[in-house]
Amino acid sequence: MSALAERIVAFGPGRVNLIGEHTDYNDGLAMPFAIERGVTVTAEPARRFTVDALDLEERDEFDEPERGEGWRAFPRGMVAELRAAGFDVAPAHLTITGDVPQGSGLSSSAALEAALALALLGRVPEDLKALAQLCSRVENDWVGAETGLLDQLASLCSQEHHVLRIDFRSLDVDPYPLDLGDWQLVTVDSGATHSIAASGYNQRRAECRAACEALGISTLRDAQVGHLDGVLERRVRHVVSENARVEATANALDAGDLEQVARLLDESHASLRDDYEASVPEVEATVERLKAAGAAGARMVGGGFGGSVLALLPGGVARPAGAFVVAPHAAARLL
Ligand code: GLA
Repeated sequence: MSALAERIVAFGPGRVNLIGEHTDYNDGLAMPFAIERGVTVTAEPARRFTVDALDLEERDEFDEPERGEGWRAFPRGMVAELRAAGFDVAPAHLTITGDVPQGSGLSSSAALEAALALALLGRVPEDLKALAQLCSRVENDWVGAETGLLDQLASLCSQEHHVLRIDFRSLDVDPYPLDLGDWQLVTVDSGATHSIAASGYNQRRAECRAACEALGISTLRDAQVGHLDGVLERRVRHVVSENARVEATANALDAGDLEQVARLLDESHASLRDDYEASVPEVEATVERLKAAGAAGARMVGGGFGGSVLALLPGGVARPAGAFVVAPHAAARLL
């Protein structure tokens, strides 16, 4: 195995999803973008793997990656999956630090995965979609969260000033200019942290599979409303209507109609709350506070069950307390 020749510093951004929530694992549509905040991983040549999580003041050490709990599952899983994919990964001393709050719904996980992958490889590989899939395997098989590809594609493929319109069936990723004029997108942490592995997320995935089975289809991308009852019908209605809202948002952005984008954010939130049942009281209170402060539209962002709220503020509306401006930034990279 070749030794790491030099010190590598890699950065993986977190992400915000403008719209298209809980659609990625249903072969649907979404519109995420990478944000400025993220995770930085430094890799230096070493005899064995040592990993310092600086913000947590914790360390891990291993020669061969075995299963690990909590954050340790990420570097161990990344080394194992990169090697399984045929990459030459030499032992390294890794240090991890970041400014995406964990559990805030801004995908500190994908930021960490992207930064780890680039630091261990020492380069940005050509096939970013394959790398996104590899990162997702780390999350699915090592961390135990059955997440889709939304966060990894956003962290690895984003472009400055653009949202990505992603079709998760074809894996087409189309950059789409985001021109907000004097309007602003902000996120506010609801204060309720979520852990995908421990939340209702995996249960929602199981419900989507059950709905497919009941409908006799292999993916909810092909579903139509009105054929099921109760919980499963509500889950289908969210996914089908959310895909339509992504298309409508693309059209509204084309037309420069930000009022319409804001209405679609509100509708997305209502659907996530009522049909997907992925909200919690802290998130509802945050949405109400943002609307009262003048947001034209606001919705929960990410996996739900806590995390952050995204709001679209018209020009002239003051940024509410605790709100961070978010704008599309560049993808994961070497520094
Ligand atoms: C989390 C997951 C993504 C996606 C969103 C919901 O962020 O990691 O794969 O499913 O939730 O849209």
